[in-house]
Amino acid sequence: MTTQKAKPDAERSEPNKGGPSVPVYIHLRPARASDVAQLVPLLLRLKRLNEEFDPLLKVRPDAEERATEVLMNDLADREATVFAVEGVGADKGKIVGVVRARVRERPFYAPEKEGVILDIYLLPLYRRKGAGEYLLHQLSRALKARGAGVLTAEFPVQNEIAIRFYTKQGFRPITTLHARMM
Ligand SMILES: CC(C)(COP(=O)(O)OP(=O)(O)OC[C@H]1O[C@@H](n2cnc3c(N)ncnc32)[C@H](O)[C@@H]1OP(=O)(O)O)[C@@H](O)C(=O)NCCC(=O)NCCS
Repeated sequence: MTTQKAKPDAERSEPNKGGPSVPVYIHLRPARASDVAQLVPLLLRLKRLNEEFDPLLKVRPDAEERATEVLMNDLADREATVFAVEGVGADKGKIVGVVRARVRERPFYAPEKEGVILDIYLLPLYRRKGAGEYLLHQLSRALKARGAGVLTAEFPVQNEIAIRFYTKQGFRPITTLHARMM
């Protein structure tokens, strides 16, 4: 850990007005293709965590290759947003978290576009110090700038940490996804 002040790229021209304070131990920036090798294990950790919640979220044997493809596709997709959370100081260059989101059309509802948080993951050492709130704030700004009028999040219904985290940030459940094996 270090006391170096993090200055996310998104923040360089505009201060974090009215938002949560910038955590001093991370640096948030848009992900690049050269980050993918470090982002994949984080995404897989999240998917394996999801698997613990429900056997219908069983991770595929080829999930690693698929994660690489998904991230590469996202990086080339205008509607997708991927942020890398980098450590600072001694951890500079080490990616300690990932956020994946996209802007999706809502054909029947207003606002017409939603920003969907598909994946948000921080390594355990970096949790519960306000980084999640900060990521959410920055992501929200980025998705709003792309036309999203509502922010949604997808996660396993049994993930109590996610429920608490999002509830604290003003989210509430609006739809549920029910599933059964075929
Ligand atoms: C979800 C996540 C990104 C939140 O990041 P964070 O930096 O821990 O969040 P913050 O410090 O900004 O906010 C903390 C709040 O989140 C909730 N929370 C976080 N960790 C929690 C835990 N272990 N137990 C209960 N609530 C928890 C609480 O509401 C907490 O507020 P409190 O400390 O006042 O009780 C992070 O915990 C994480 O990566 N978790 C594992 C992956 C995951 O579950 N992702 C979400 C579903 S895709």
